[in-house]
Amino acid sequence: MRISIIAAMAANRTIGIENRLPWHLPDDLKRFKALTMNHHIVMGRKTYDSIGKPLPGRSTVIVTRNVDYAVPGCIAVNSLDAALTVSFSDEEVFFVGGADLYRQALPIANRIYLTEIQRVFDGDAFFPEFDKSQWTETAREPHRTEGDTGFDYHYVIYDRQ
Ligand SMILES: NC(=O)c1ccc[n+]([C@@H]2O[C@H](COP(=O)([O-])OP(=O)(O)OC[C@H]3O[C@@H](n4cnc5c(N)ncnc54)[C@H](OP(=O)(O)O)[C@@H]3O)[C@@H](O)[C@H]2O)c1
Repeated sequence: MRISIIAAMAANRTIGIENRLPWHLPDDLKRFKALTMNHHIVMGRKTYDSIGKPLPGRSTVIVTRNVDYAVPGCIAVNSLDAALTVSFSDEEVFFVGGADLYRQALPIANRIYLTEIQRVFDGDAFFPEFDKSQWTETAREPHRTEGDTGFDYHYVIYDRQ
C-alpha cells in the first residue's frame, strides 16, 4: 500500500488559520478530489470539524483520542496504525491533514503531494519541516491564479528515496 500525504502549503509553511484554509484555490480542490477519489482519506478530528461532512466517493477515516466519537458515514479510529488497518484493502491511502496528522504521518509516508503556494499567508497551522535529502522531487507543475492579485503555486510530488 502506498501511504501518501496531500497538502497545500504557503511559502511560510502555513496550511490553515482558525481551522480553515487561508486561500481560495478551486483548482487545487479539484486536484485533491481527482487524486483521492475512491480512496481512503485519513484526517485529524479538527480537520474533519472544518469540513463537517464525509467527502463523497471516498472512505473518510477520522483520527481522534475520543473512544466514543462516531460520525455517520465515517470511520472513527484512535490511532494512525488503526487508520492504516481499516484502509488495508486500498492501494493508496491519503493523509489529508491537519498539521498534527501530517507531523505523525511523515515518518511512515512514501509520497507527498504538496501544493507549494509561492506567497506568504498568515496562519496558525503549519506543514512540518521535512528532510529533503530523504525525498526525490519527481514532479513539479507551475500554475498561477488569475487576476492582478494572482499568485504562483506549484503542484509538487516528493517520493521517498
Ligand atoms: N492546507 C491543507 O492542505 C490543509 C489540509 C487539512 C487541514 N488543514 C488545516 O489544518 C488545521 C487543523 O490542523 P490541526 O493540527 O489543528 O488538527 P488535526 O491534525 O486536523 O486534528 C488534530 C486532532 O486529531 C486527533 N489526533 C491527532 N493525533 C492523534 C493520534 N495519534 N491518535 C488519536 N487521535 C489523534 C486529536 O483529536 P481529538 O482532539 O478529538 O482527540 C487531535 O486533536 C486547520 O486549520 C485546517 O484548515 C490544512
